Amino acid sequence: MKIGNIKLRSRVFAAPMAGIMDLSMRILATEFGAGLVFTELISAEGIVRGQQRTTRYITCHPDEMPLGVQIFGKNPHTMAPAAEKAQNLGASLIDINMGCPVKKVARQGAGASLMKDPDLAKTIIAEVRRAVTIPVTVKIRAGWDESSINFVEVGKMIEDAGADAVTLHPRVATDFLSGMANWERIGELARALSIPVIGSGDIQSYSEALERLEESGAEFVMIGRAVMGKPWIFMPEWEPRTDEILSVIKRHIGLLTLQYGEVNAVPIIRRHVSYYIKAKRGAVETRRKLMEMKDINEIVRHVQEYISG
Ligand SMILES: Cc1cc2nc3c(=O)[nH]c(=O)nc-3n(C[C@H](O)[C@H](O)[C@H](O)COP(=O)(O)O)c2cc1C
Repeated sequence: MKIGNIKLRSRVFAAPMAGIMDLSMRILATEFGAGLVFTELISAEGIVRGQQRTTRYITCHPDEMPLGVQIFGKNPHTMAPAAEKAQNLGASLIDINMGCPVKKVARQGAGASLMKDPDLAKTIIAEVRRAVTIPVTVKIRAGWDESSINFVEVGKMIEDAGADAVTLHPRVATDFLSGMANWERIGELARALSIPVIGSGDIQSYSEALERLEESGAEFVMIGRAVMGKPWIFMPEWEPRTDEILSVIKRHIGLLTLQYGEVNAVPIIRRHVSYYIKAKRGAVETRRKLMEMKDINEIVRHVQEYISG
């Protein structure tokens, strides 16, 4: 189980998710056994300019290792030094974002827009490859839209450009997250490439992750949305009891408090804790009350009552 020269302890990874997979979530996912965790997409321009707001995303904390730092941009001369800087800060791996469909990213020619410009994408990947010694991976979509599906062609280009693995989220960019992820496409890519393929899309549990690995022939898979409020998803066959869930929430709150300080952490804690409150009667009301709370102890008591009730 390797990508490039890094050994991985599990074939199930935590997917990059902007605004969700922050340091606290990455530490929890690592503690619960995720093989690899990723930062959210980070602007290569911001990294190169040394913008504090940007570089603080590259935490590289010892408890979140191995860590993939995901960068986005469209300029090879910015992407390469950004990758080098991330390596110097302690990244285990560089992941190039070619899948983000969000306007702010795609409109500037970065993210999923690169699916429409494989020549530029190849230059970016080759330059990043040259700039670092750690593994380089690329995360793609099936294509820009249904009329331009090109993941096999782009996957082969990525392999030729020297990348160590490709992640495929098999929706087209214009679909964002709607519909179902087509895992047949992941199987097709795995058969077409010699480097490892990482499959991403709609996995709900650890056992489903194993089924997807088996069926698709992908070497690795990642779990995204199902990690929210369930960071233990990387543990095989563990259904936590109520008291165990509460311990995880308290640990999560502790990590956020350490990271942001007691006052600044409160709104971030409210958001993260709300992910644990779902699929149960009274969830809407509990979440509404939670959003008004200004004190960490009050939040803990409130969640405790909800979970035990
Ligand atoms: C809120 C949110 C933020 C995301 N941010 C990123 C990101 O920063 N970089 C990226 O490559 N993918 C991002 N994704 C896509 C996920 O990594 C993943 O490929 C997708 O959600 C499908 O997997 P899932 O069904 O397991 O969530 C994001 C998805 C969501 C829902």
